[in-house]
Amino acid sequence: MSATARKTALTAGDIRALKGQRPIVSLTAYTTPMARLMDPHCDFVLVGDSVGMVLHGLPSTLGVTLDMMVLHGAAVARGLSKAMMVIDMPFGTYEESPAQAFSNAARLMAETGAAAVKLEGGVEMAETIRFLVGRGIPVMAHVGLTPQSVHALGGYKVQGRNEAAAPLIADARAVSEAGAFAVVLEKVPATLADQVTEIVPIPTIGIGASAGCDGQVLVVDDMLGFFTAFKPKFVKRYADLGAAAEAAIADYAAEVRARQFPAPEHTFADTLPPKAD
Ligand code: KIV
Repeated sequence: MSATARKTALTAGDIRALKGQRPIVSLTAYTTPMARLMDPHCDFVLVGDSVGMVLHGLPSTLGVTLDMMVLHGAAVARGLSKAMMVIDMPFGTYEESPAQAFSNAARLMAETGAAAVKLEGGVEMAETIRFLVGRGIPVMAHVGLTPQSVHALGGYKVQGRNEAAAPLIADARAVSEAGAFAVVLEKVPATLADQVTEIVPIPTIGIGASAGCDGQVLVVDDMLGFFTAFKPKFVKRYADLGAAAEAAIADYAAEVRARQFPAPEHTFADTLPPKAD
């Protein structure tokens, strides 16, 4: 789809208004068929920069480019009619200045049809969030474990334990006060996630956080069992589709080698059957 807004899709305002009403449901998507499957079930779909790891085999999200996000974002938009689409700003496309963030967010929204961008960071990104929101770009924030800072954080560790709780609360407050319509809380202790959810007036979207968050998000390839390189503790596998796909591929290979595939019903005769009277 083009940059035209979908008339029936949920908006940032709708998502924000769900706080205190009912849990918000979200998954990541990177392709049209997957977006079609989740559209009836999700309130918003996140085109996450996790695409770099789960579809492109990158070792982290740091190598994801704006062009990759545009390609996957446009594909996801073609599969959605009801759910809101949020798209990640990749590493290096927003941290330098609010102006840099605006021009790259504008490109993402114009070329994909996304209704909001997500960016990582708390207090240090508040000015940028305010700048974008003030110029018509809804922003979802992301605090706690911010995978684009994996090297600075020293790995994919739980964030906000003990004396790190107060700075994490400050981050959530700062992005909320800057105008973010929701905030992802990744890999933080459950009690802290509950506390942040109480404190901020915007929805908290948990991933490795707490069932008390206002909503949840998971990486779709994790929960369907397609991405098996590693499984974070916070991932629940709702299906084992990677194993099912491999079994199907093995069956196909065996049938080709045994000349059982294609069977007569998959091949064409050299004459058409006579027409019935
Ligand atoms: O990139 C992503 O998929 C994300 C989610 C893990 C929240 O940011």
